[in-house]
Amino acid sequence: MIPVPVPVAELAHFLRAEIERHNYLYHVLDAPEIPDAEYDRLFRKLQALEGDYPELALPDSPTQRVGAAPLAAFSQVVHRVPMLSLNNAFFEADVLAFDRRVQEVLGAGDIDYAVEPKFDGLAINLIYQNGVLVQAATRGDGATGEDVTANLRTVNSVPLRLAGAPSLLEVRGEVLMQKADFAALNAQQRDKGEKEFVNPRNAAAGSLRQLDSRITATRHLTFFAYGIGAAEGVALPHSHGELMSLLECWHLPVCNERSVVRGAAGLLDYYRRIGEKRPSLPYDIDGVVYKVNDLRAQDELGFVSRAPRWAVAHKFPAEEALTVVEDITVQVGRTGTLTPVARLKAVFVGGATVTNATLHNEDEVRRKDVRIGDTVIVRRAGDVIPEVVGSVPEQRPADAREFEMPTACPVCGSQVVRLPDEAAARCSGGLYCPAQRKQALLHFASRRAMDIEGLGDKLVDQLVDRELVKNPADLYRLGMAILANLERMAEKSAENLLEALEKSKATTLARFVYALGIRNVGEATAKELARHFGKLDALAAASEEVLQQVPDIGPIVAQSIAQFFAEKHNLDVINSLRDAGVHWQESGGVQPAPGGAASGKTFVLTGTLPHFSRDETKEKIEAQGGKVVGSVSKKTDFVVVGAEPGSKYAKALELGVTILDEAGLLELLNFKPDGSV
Ligand code: IVH
Repeated sequence: MIPVPVPVAELAHFLRAEIERHNYLYHVLDAPEIPDAEYDRLFRKLQALEGDYPELALPDSPTQRVGAAPLAAFSQVVHRVPMLSLNNAFFEADVLAFDRRVQEVLGAGDIDYAVEPKFDGLAINLIYQNGVLVQAATRGDGATGEDVTANLRTVNSVPLRLAGAPSLLEVRGEVLMQKADFAALNAQQRDKGEKEFVNPRNAAAGSLRQLDSRITATRHLTFFAYGIGAAEGVALPHSHGELMSLLECWHLPVCNERSVVRGAAGLLDYYRRIGEKRPSLPYDIDGVVYKVNDLRAQDELGFVSRAPRWAVAHKFPAEEALTVVEDITVQVGRTGTLTPVARLKAVFVGGATVTNATLHNEDEVRRKDVRIGDTVIVRRAGDVIPEVVGSVPEQRPADAREFEMPTACPVCGSQVVRLPDEAAARCSGGLYCPAQRKQALLHFASRRAMDIEGLGDKLVDQLVDRELVKNPADLYRLGMAILANLERMAEKSAENLLEALEKSKATTLARFVYALGIRNVGEATAKELARHFGKLDALAAASEEVLQQVPDIGPIVAQSIAQFFAEKHNLDVINSLRDAGVHWQESGGVQPAPGGAASGKTFVLTGTLPHFSRDETKEKIEAQGGKVVGSVSKKTDFVVVGAEPGSKYAKALELGVTILDEAGLLELLNFKPDGSV
């Protein structure tokens, strides 16, 4: 074997130290100093050296983090110092009793406690010999665990060499997967069509128990140290708090939510504070751990059976629980989306009793494989809506039934449709469906639709909840007597609303079509339809093929329109609106007349015109076959400039585009000076 030349050995040593330093900066301190590409370059350089001189590839080389050849099985490891568990406290009284016992044994008053989150991951013991990571093992039964050294080497925040070197140190801590890494992993699993993990803890466990550590290396695990086992060749500090700081100095990742507090009051205050923070922490925790801070006092307190008397885990209410799906029903949302909801046998989870949980959509029900009768895992975290995480197929009864999306809306009976590239099934009832009424009414009244000023969501809520308004036509039947009786409705505002309703009756076909709230028909499409068909009846009678002849209307929009007019309820509402006096001008279907004054021309608007709003100006230009676009280019024919124009004005000057003021525009469009044609 060629001996390694001294400069090469030194270079390898330098690269190892440098790479580990950047690793620490990135994965523990979250404060990288160099770009990823530079890190990769150092890494490849070290890999190349180790390729040339294999004896340089020591176990503490960062190149070992990519994983090693798969094992046949994990070997057993007997722990030098057993890995014990913690007693649990669930209620305040348990915490007070713990504190009282500690005080009694120590014969002391207020006790100082080191406090830290209880990480929801897997306990691990790391052994460092002369500063080098030589072994990592799971807790197992506390006495014997499994050797997962190759896997732990792939966890970037675990130092392969400590920045200080006691002759022997056992570091105890928790391996976990951060919430974001968990979500990314599941997204990947979904893409690959593989089974998803139910929670970060299971994902961490699954990743750590891989015989092929190259798989573990792809999984983004993290680690927090929370204590030590055996230690030799080092003078230990006197308190747990200082011990954590010492581990931190050695570049071991410790949690910065840790603290030292005094007495039971301090413990309960910490519990409350971390509880509030829990939803925003990047990792799952299932409680907090209180430890008597003084290490000599810990010794004095000792152990009872398999748990220390100097520590206790104060648990948060579990965020996940098992229960049974009694039924799956469907809820219709404000936009007509049908959402399957699991009706559950009542279960206490995340601090509340849960009886329903959303299943989002049909695909989700299949993906999670949830059937009526199944036992499922329900999750309720913080204030987040409870959800079904997955089913437990092993506990599936023989008569479990699969969910089927209804073909008729359970609220109004209209046909349920699901477009090929959409996850949601929707009720096609539109304005007729009570579940969609509020949303539809607000849209109907909006500024660019019927423009009914003063009809806001508070008012719509009251009108629909009291069943005063079932569809938009009912709005026009409202009178003073009813309106003045509503909450927060003074006589003056009622009068104003009635006036706005009256005014809205005279509209345009385009606005009316837009106001109907047909799925996939926005303002521009409504205009196009009005222009093309000219009459509402012609539009309502058009087949999907005919609809697709309109510029910019594809099969999906055509289908939405045809489906809308196929529902008798919708036609009834339209007739009632006409009866109530809503009207517009109909034409023979004016194609944008090639002779229109603005035909084929492109306009950009900037600044405020003296007499017309932006919408009105746009309407006028479009009525004459022109097009209004958002930005100025060489292709723009005219820029219409009002008071306080923006940068579009400068752009127009720069490009030499013709500039018009309001009068110039009206002249171009053949309007008389007062704005009439
Ligand atoms: S100290 C002598 N501190 O909880 C006991 N444990 O129920 C030493 N855990 O297996 C444990 N976070 O996996 C301690 N901050 C923390 C912890 C913690 C999570 C786990 C650990 C242990 C289990 C005990």
